[in-house]
This record gives sequence, C-alpha cells and structure tokens, in this order.
Amino acid sequence: MKNYQYLQQKYLVNTYVNRGITFVKGDGVYLIDENGEKYLDMMSNYGVNIFGHVDREITDQITNQLNALTTLHGSFNNDMRADASELLIKRCGPSYKFVYWSNSGAEANEAALKFAVATSGKKKIIACTNAYHGKTLGTLSVTAGEKYRKPFLPLLWEVVFIKHNDISALKKAMDKNTAAFIVEPIQGEGGIYVPNNTYLTNVREMCSKHDVLLIIDEIQTGMGRTGALLSSQKTRVQADILTMGKGLAGGIPVGATLVNQKVGNAIFKGLHTSTFGGNPLACAGVKATLNKIDEKLLEHVTEIGSYFIKELKSIKSSLIIDVRGQGLMIGVEVKEDRNGILKKLQSKKILAIPAGDTVVRFLPPFIVEKKHIDETVSKFKHILS
Ligand SMILES: Cc1ncc(COP(=O)(O)O)c(C=O)c1O
Repeated sequence: MKNYQYLQQKYLVNTYVNRGITFVKGDGVYLIDENGEKYLDMMSNYGVNIFGHVDREITDQITNQLNALTTLHGSFNNDMRADASELLIKRCGPSYKFVYWSNSGAEANEAALKFAVATSGKKKIIACTNAYHGKTLGTLSVTAGEKYRKPFLPLLWEVVFIKHNDISALKKAMDKNTAAFIVEPIQGEGGIYVPNNTYLTNVREMCSKHDVLLIIDEIQTGMGRTGALLSSQKTRVQADILTMGKGLAGGIPVGATLVNQKVGNAIFKGLHTSTFGGNPLACAGVKATLNKIDEKLLEHVTEIGSYFIKELKSIKSSLIIDVRGQGLMIGVEVKEDRNGILKKLQSKKILAIPAGDTVVRFLPPFIVEKKHIDETVSKFKHILS
C-alpha cells in the first residue's frame, strides 16, 4: 500500500500538525482509515460536516448540480445561486438584505472588513482577545494569538483588542474613528468561551448608539451548531454584517457575508469579487443543507448537547478545570497535557480537536446519538483516570 502520510508530509507545505492517520472515506458519524478502521468523528472536520459524512440527500443534490453546472461567474445569473441567496437571507432575519458569496470563512470575514471600511469611511476596528477570524492578512489583523501574528507585524490598520464579554471595555475602545466591532457570539478556536446572556444585546445597543458597525462572525456558531440557525438569533440580535462558512454548503467550500441595507448601499461594482464565489455547486450545497435545518433538528442539537455537557460535567477528575459550551459546541478545559489527551482519545478511535492552549473541543455532527456520546464520555473518563 502507498504511504500516503509520507507523501503528504513530503509534498505539502508544513503548516498543519500531522495527526498520523490517513482517512479515505466517511460514513455518517464515522471516518474510515486506509485499513478500514472506523473512528467516531466528534469534531465533524472543525464543524463542517454537520449532517455527518455522505448524507444522502445533500450528496444527491450536490451530485445533480455537478452534472448540470459547477462554476458560473457572478456576472451571469444562475438559478441555484439566486435560490440559495434568497433562502439564506430569509432564514437569517429581516435586517439582512444582500449576500456576498466566497469560498471560506476567512474570505467571508475579509469581505466583512472591507465592507465595513467602505461603508464608514473609517479604518479602526475593535476585536476581542482570544478571537479567531481567519489567517489571511486582513483577518489575521483581527485574530488574536501572538504566534500567528508576530511574523507578519505590522498588520492592517488600527486594531484594538478588548476582552470578550466586557461591555465597558467596548465602550472605552470606541471613538469617532471606529469603523466596526467584530465578534464571535461564542469564541470557538480561542477556547469555547460563552459570554453572559445579555452581552450580544448590549453590544448591539452600544454599536448603534456610537454609530459603529457590528460584524457578527457566525462561521463556527452558525448553521444550527448552538441549537438555533444562528447563535445571535437566540437573543434576536441582528448585525450590520454577518459572516458564515463551515457547514453552510454541506461540505463544499463556501463563505457568506450578509449585509444590511446601509452596508449594501455603500458597496460598488468591482469593490470585492471572487471567481468561484457563489458557484452553483456550493449553492446547491447551501440549499440542500438549509432545507434540512428545521425546528426538530435544532431541538435535537439543544437536547443532545445538554446531555453531552451534563455527562462531561459528571466526570470526577482533578484534571478537568471546566466544561462549557452550548448545543454541540463544547469545550473541556484541562489542567495539563491537552494534546496528550487528544492523542489518547484518537488511539481509542475518538476524534476531538484542540481549542486555545488547554481545551479539548467537541463539534460532533448533528446526527450524533446518545450511544456515541456515552462511548466518548466513557473513553474520556478512562483516559483521565
Ligand atoms: C469563528 C471563525 N471565524 C473564521 C474562521 C476561518 O474560517 P476558514 O478556516 O474557513 O477560513 C473560523 C475557522 O475556524 C472560525 O471558527
């Protein structure tokens, strides 16, 4: 058999940690390696495969589109793109009027930052410590984390970092030069930090009062992950600019930047474009995926997520500092050797991912059942003991 791990390490630029397994297939909640070994996927590829792997309905609709038309430049009209745009805007809420399509989360945020500057005529941005918005130069400017930023300093414009979940810090940081505040409703990569219930509402009020655009990054929290289509819908907060990605297109690369009327009015032709943005293939994935997210599914995410958190909290171990999260976005903060714990879970055929420096993160697919959670918790408990 070919040594794919060797080939990958030989030919790919060394930017990813290598987890040492070669997966060749996915099936529901499982990833299957080259030897036919099944691994329980409790991370859904960093939150992408929300219906598990090879969901029949989604795959069929993407395959149909593959046979009809895959790519079409945005200067031409397309049935699938028009339908997906209407559906997404209608599902996200009345403030959102237009969508800009791209191909990744970072691209969605890159567009958001440019749109905010184009709308306000200002360049100061406020972001949060522990924030993750991507690693392109624009989004890296608002992503926290010394190790990612340092080699590229100085980054773009004037960015001020404030504590997440601290409304008075936001007030202090705002001034007449501020274009926008960019925030994740729950911080994901930074370590699964859930703010208090009133935070986002207060943020919205503060931004409106001081004429600062609010960019809500729902790339990780969106698409039902926390038990609502958008986490911000739980508190009925509408951003000026909303970004989405990850599971939005059923596994096909996608980014979406939704804007309100005011921002839409400021965007002129050619300001920001992408050859693949809004391609019919991804849009077929968007339509198929959105149509599968209904109240029943969101209730399941809420219920099974609460069960998972409850079971994790019931583990008696001095190594656990905290268990936190919402829906199926869950982090377990551990005292030591987080990476060692991830490796041991993997050796027991459970896939989880890191967040921050000390958190074991679970982002399972929404089709996860109690038996999968019980298996995960039991193996986790065993490792910690
Ligand atoms: C909240 C958030 N924003 C942006 C991104 C960047 O998305 P991508 O990796 O698709 O560029 C991520 C990725 O994890 C994310 O979690």
